[in-house]
Amino acid sequence: MKQTVTIAGKEYGTVFLAPMAGMGDAAFRKICKEHGADYMTTEMVSAKALCYGDKKTPILAAIREYEKPVAIQIFGSEPETMAKASGILLEMSAKRGVMPAAIDVNMGCPMTKVVKSGDGSALMRTPEKAEAIVREMVSVCGDMPVTVKLRLGWDHENRNVVDMAKRLEQCGAAAFCIHARTRSEMYSPGIHPEYIRMVKESVSVPVIGNGDIFTAADAKKMVAETGCDGVAVARGALGNPWLFEEIHKGADFIPPTKEERIREALRHFRYMIEDKGERVAVAESRAAIAYYTKGLSGSSRIRGMMNTAETADEIIHILSDYADDKNSPFA
Ligand SMILES: Cc1cc2nc3c(=O)[nH]c(=O)nc-3n(C[C@H](O)[C@H](O)[C@H](O)COP(=O)(O)O)c2cc1C
Repeated sequence: MKQTVTIAGKEYGTVFLAPMAGMGDAAFRKICKEHGADYMTTEMVSAKALCYGDKKTPILAAIREYEKPVAIQIFGSEPETMAKASGILLEMSAKRGVMPAAIDVNMGCPMTKVVKSGDGSALMRTPEKAEAIVREMVSVCGDMPVTVKLRLGWDHENRNVVDMAKRLEQCGAAAFCIHARTRSEMYSPGIHPEYIRMVKESVSVPVIGNGDIFTAADAKKMVAETGCDGVAVARGALGNPWLFEEIHKGADFIPPTKEERIREALRHFRYMIEDKGERVAVAESRAAIAYYTKGLSGSSRIRGMMNTAETADEIIHILSDYADDKNSPFA
């Protein structure tokens, strides 16, 4: 696997965190960065919401110095709105003193509520619109790279990712991250890495391979099968930020103990409190923490207790007791 990838003249490591709405927040990104994520992308934010002055959206798009390099992802389908939203993000980031590595365009989201407005992976059915989006964003972004996240196409009969990537490169896209499934495949088992290889052979900008990377061996396979310049992981990092270390170290990687997993869940939870405050952190932590305890004996009891916990102290106690319990299976 290559050690570096150069995007718009800047060099980065090759193990990326892919964007994850609802999961890939600042606390999770901090954890992933600490475990060796080389380049990360925020959760998608709505270009329309940014343009209409929605109060919550800028919070989702706020990036921190310690997590750099990080790209901010937007979704939408009106070229003008996408360009305006890019300008807002750049201005907002400049005010905060932390600039993103790129503005990334979501052309991969399969969710009905997104595609029914023509956004996300629906843009793969409207290549001219996708081209106009990238062209207009590039003209607003100037030196700031515009990158694109793609699927293979809308469905089996319309796997047009090679054509899309070629077109968007012409419009100024600086890199692609490709999830090797079509929209209609959603997340069903099995990916089609041969399409990533075809894109890699058709464009000169970097191509990051994505889809079903849960181990170092999966990452190696993705690179071997596609020739991609780097890999991006999403679900594999949930409750397992060690995946970045595993991919970097290969055979030298030592998996975390069960106790380390619980300790990491606690740290993740503390980062959520720092970032969002106790009330929101308690509500949102249940999903994030459940991933760390997945597969551990007694974890369903812990999940049940977490679901009724109302304060941060309660959650911290539940997890600390679970980690310290000398009778527990991981003592
Ligand atoms: C909970 C969740 C949220 C996601 N949100 C986004 C998103 O905001 N933007 C995006 O481009 N892809 C999003 N994705 C897709 C992932 O970035 C990635 O392409 C996909 O999960 C395949 O990679 P994986 O097999 O490593 O999970 C999301 C995936 C999941 C599971």
